[in-house]
Formats: sequence, C-alpha cells, structure tokens
Amino acid sequence: MTTKNGSTRKATIRVQRFNPDVEKKPYWAEFTLTIGPDTTILDALEALKTEQDGSITFRRSCRHAICGSCAMNVNGTNMLVCNRRVEEVLDRQGRVSIKPLSYLPVIKDLVVDRTSFWEQYLRVKPWLIPPDDVPEKEFRMSPEEVAALQNAEKCIMCGACYSACQVVAMNKKYIGPHALLKAALRVLDPRDSGTNGRLLEISGADGAFRCHTIFNCIDACPKGLDPTQAIETLRQLAQKREAFVAARRERQKTLAQPTD
Ligand code: FES
Repeated sequence: MTTKNGSTRKATIRVQRFNPDVEKKPYWAEFTLTIGPDTTILDALEALKTEQDGSITFRRSCRHAICGSCAMNVNGTNMLVCNRRVEEVLDRQGRVSIKPLSYLPVIKDLVVDRTSFWEQYLRVKPWLIPPDDVPEKEFRMSPEEVAALQNAEKCIMCGACYSACQVVAMNKKYIGPHALLKAALRVLDPRDSGTNGRLLEISGADGAFRCHTIFNCIDACPKGLDPTQAIETLRQLAQKREAFVAARRERQKTLAQPTD
C-alpha cells in the first residue's frame, strides 16, 4: 500500500470470520498487510478483500464518517473504520483485531443484522410531526432551543452506542441510546407536536428509566455525542409530561405569531 511519504510497515490484521449458514462458531483469521501512516482500517479491509481473500464480508459506503455503515468493534472499542488509521490502533506486537458490533446477530463476518436497532428507532417516531396550526411564515426558535437540538442532529445512526450498551445486551426490548437521543431531538423541537406520545413511549418499562447510566454510549459515539444527557432530559420531561405538553402548546401559539 503506497503512502504520501512512502514509509510503510507490516501489520497483522485479525478479522473475526463467521458464516452462520455453514459454521458453528466464529474464529479469527490472521492476515499480514503492508500499511502506511495514512492507511485507514477500512482501507486495510478493502486491501485484504482485493488482494488476499475475496470472501471477507463487511459493510461500507461513504468512506467519510457520514453514512454510519462501517461501524465495527476494533480492539474492543466500537468505531467507524473509515475514519480511523490502522497505526492508531495497532498494539505493541503490530496487531489489530476487528470484530462485528456486539449484541447483534451476525449475518456474515463483520456484517450484523440491525433489525432490532431499526425497530426500536421507529418506536419513538423519529420524524417531525408538525402541529395543525402551522404558522404562515416560519417557526421561530430561540438560540437555546437550536443549541439543544444540535447534540442529536449530528447522530448518523451507526449503531456504535447501541452495540456498546449493557442494557441492550440484556434486553432487546430496550429502546436504546440511539432512539432515545432522537426522541429527545423531537421532544425538544418547538416545531413538533408529537411530544405527548413520545414521552409516554419512553416512560414505559423499556424506555429511558431502564438506562443504567453506565456512559458506554458516550465512549462509543464516533461523533462525540451524549445520549446519556438526552436520556436524563427525557426522564425529567417525562416526570412533568402534562405540564410540559401544555407549556409547549402555549409556546407554539406565541411562535405562530407573525414576526412583523
Ligand atoms: S463508510 Fe460511511 S461512515 Fe464509514
């Protein structure tokens, strides 16, 4: 693999292989690859697939940390492999170990079945539900409201937080940090009118109160987001749901007033 400055080295890339259709359990396959200082983990996987074993299976699309499809577990930590360099993650023996995301069924090698992840996401109705009385001109939002939304808006739904969550490991009915973060995004959005339903949904036995506040989701998020804070916000709002929904209605009436 050539690089800008031409310096290269050998690395041992360990990939967890598993085809549940024909194999009983996962196993490690070891490959030696020449890497440069700029080689990403995804570059390394692509090189292995092209040059050494075409059957290695993994997901990727954008290569720019935007689509979220390349989330994997590298040396025990969930990350996007397209924006991490191999050199950053090599151990002292010059090895790196790549596994699929935990707590999700493996389809093949590094590809997992994300059905439960998306099912939980849909539970919170992550889309905007506008009120009946949409203002003629525009919704107005305060700078504080915009700032509150920015945390959740940057989420790319890669699954790194979901697969690092110990509650998900024990209970697949748990809504999960990804969906709770998106629920908080909508609940805090003054343009949305689905607040009551969402707060009821996240107040159930498998919702925000199930979180053990272990902070694994924060450590795992490749975008530096804070699902734990969003979950705490939802807990507080759920406890005063009726008052919050009434205040939201009043606030929307004010926001709906013409600005001039
Ligand atoms: S390939 Fe899209 S986030 Fe990595």
